Amino acid sequence: MAEKVSKLNVFLADLAVMNIKVHNLHWNVVGMEFKSVHKMTEKIYETLQAQFDQTAELMRMQDKLPLAAMADYLKNSQVEEIESREYSTLEVLELLDQDCDTLMNQAKQVREEADKNDDFLTVNLMEEFLAVYAKKSWMLKSMLRE
Ligand SMILES: [Fe+2]
Repeated sequence: MAEKVSKLNVFLADLAVMNIKVHNLHWNVVGMEFKSVHKMTEKIYETLQAQFDQTAELMRMQDKLPLAAMADYLKNSQVEEIESREYSTLEVLELLDQDCDTLMNQAKQVREEADKNDDFLTVNLMEEFLAVYAKKSWMLKSMLRE
């Protein structure tokens, strides 16, 4: 790809990689809190999946092309993939907390750029996502504090 990848496409790649990563944690979490973390990660990947689709569809509305190949997502995502192994509930919460911060950062950057271009559709969508991430971040950080 000769063209520079847009911030929105990088964010789309983040959502794609994050969706798979959360499935990994959903399947491989172990420990006393298995049930609640298993359920929580299911809700998270459903949310990410919806955001992934909404982001790509917003791009199409604006006559932009969303990245749509796994290879392109991996090349551009700021979220790091993790291997398939068992993860303790604490590890899962720590990973989710870090990645939630990454998504927040990325969505803020997309929002900022869209704001400069008076692209209010993107601004609105990112603000909607940021509200979801803020709540999730609060919950994760509260669970990690004990
Ligand atoms: Fe499941």
